[in-house]
Amino acid sequence: MNIPIQQQRQQIRQQIRQSRQNLTALEQQKAEQNVTQQALQLIETRKARHIALYLSFDGEISTKKLIENLWQKKIDVYLPVLHPFSKGHLLFLKYETSTPMIKNKFGIIEPKLDVTKVFPTQKLDIIFTPLVAFDKQGNRLGMGGGFYDRTLQNWQQKHFIPVGLAHACQEVEQLPVEIWDIPLAQILIG
Ligand SMILES: Nc1ncnc2c1ncn2[C@@H]1O[C@H](COP(=O)(O)OP(=O)(O)OP(=O)(O)O)[C@@H](O)[C@H]1O
Ligand SMILES: [Mg+2]
Repeated sequence: MNIPIQQQRQQIRQQIRQSRQNLTALEQQKAEQNVTQQALQLIETRKARHIALYLSFDGEISTKKLIENLWQKKIDVYLPVLHPFSKGHLLFLKYETSTPMIKNKFGIIEPKLDVTKVFPTQKLDIIFTPLVAFDKQGNRLGMGGGFYDRTLQNWQQKHFIPVGLAHACQEVEQLPVEIWDIPLAQILIG
């Protein structure tokens, strides 16, 4: 029997989120170390100065060490913020130690909207994206909002490259993809 694609995608989301939450503190630590090293290497190779990241939750690899490292190197870090009017879209705001943070409608911590801190997406060098599941082709399944699919549209014609960060347990053989899904340029596995 053919299971509808939406249902397949929901099942994968549930399964992978569960295995991610089951990772031990030590596994999480090692993954963070691995992915931080790989990300710093990539940033150096590309001479990237403007990096979009995200604050981890739900068992995602922690981005804390990476962000602290970038701050030390005086490389600018930006975080996604829900667009106030344009539904389903993201803005990227500069993230510093002094940035006032708020909880958005999804319960996710984000910088408080301040137009002077908005950085044009097309000027970013790398957008690191969270993801729930991925496959070898670089296909990406997120939490289901389509936020990154909108952000990454036609990225090949833009300046930035989209790079996913993931635990090995988030890989699946082949993701059931939809026409609007945007594959990633690269995925760093922790
Ligand atoms: N470029 C787009 N324009 C309009 N709607 C879109 C676009 N991209 C995705 N969507 C819509 O967003 C919804 C969720 O998409 P999807 O299930 O692929 O989310 P996701 O990739 O898991 O989430 P996210 O990108 O936030 O991590 C879908 O209903 C889809 O129609
Ligand atoms: Mg998608």
